[in-house]
Amino acid sequence: MHFHVLTLFPEMVQNGISTSITGRAIARGDIALSTVNIRDYSTEKHKKVDDYPYGGGAGMVMQAQPVYDAWRSVRDALGKDVRTVFLSPQGKVFDQQKARELAGEEDLILLCGHYEGVDERVLEEIGVEEISIGDYVLTGGELAAMVVIDAVSRNVPGVLTNADSGTEESFSEHLLEYPQYTRPEEWMGRRVPEILLSGHHENVAKWRKEQSLLRTKERRPDLYALANGEEMSGSCGKNK
Ligand code: ADE
Repeated sequence: MHFHVLTLFPEMVQNGISTSITGRAIARGDIALSTVNIRDYSTEKHKKVDDYPYGGGAGMVMQAQPVYDAWRSVRDALGKDVRTVFLSPQGKVFDQQKARELAGEEDLILLCGHYEGVDERVLEEIGVEEISIGDYVLTGGELAAMVVIDAVSRNVPGVLTNADSGTEESFSEHLLEYPQYTRPEEWMGRRVPEILLSGHHENVAKWRKEQSLLRTKERRPDLYALANGEEMSGSCGKNK
């Protein structure tokens, strides 16, 4: 899968994604990352990319022309229609389901805004899909794009090796993950739960499932309701 990021801060995205698991996935060729500096596409003599908002108000707005030309450069090089995500707090909130869905794309363009926003006309012309990573406002779309790239990449075949397997992770069935422990058996007077030392795989699996349910019920009652709903429909409406 190839991510194409349109941004005013390409080095920020390159630095963030070229580290750790995503970095290794790039080195292996399981994912690819290209960044395009929107400023390079400004036709203005000082390479300006923003201007005052019509109607007044604080802050600056990114102009349509450099954004559109940067986007066209990627689209034309690929020679096909490419799904384009615009990172913005006005978008639909990103979740694991969306991460899995986007992982099915061969190419994905991510447009990062800055300042007070981007001229609406270029968003309409491109036909962007607006995605937010949560109900708070960032200074720009770059961190949001990195969050999306990271979460999507984990769902691209080959990116997670056995050592960082994602099959039993949080949200795989609307449940939070069970608590994990590693050596030593006792630390600061706290012991690892006995059952995990028993070697009894079935009991361990049962305990983990219970812990997942407990955690989800306590910490995320919204997810718990979803998980419960699925269990009930999976057993023909019987209340488990
Ligand atoms: N840009 C600024 N804030 C954002 C958010 N919460 N999600 C995505 N992009 C953003």
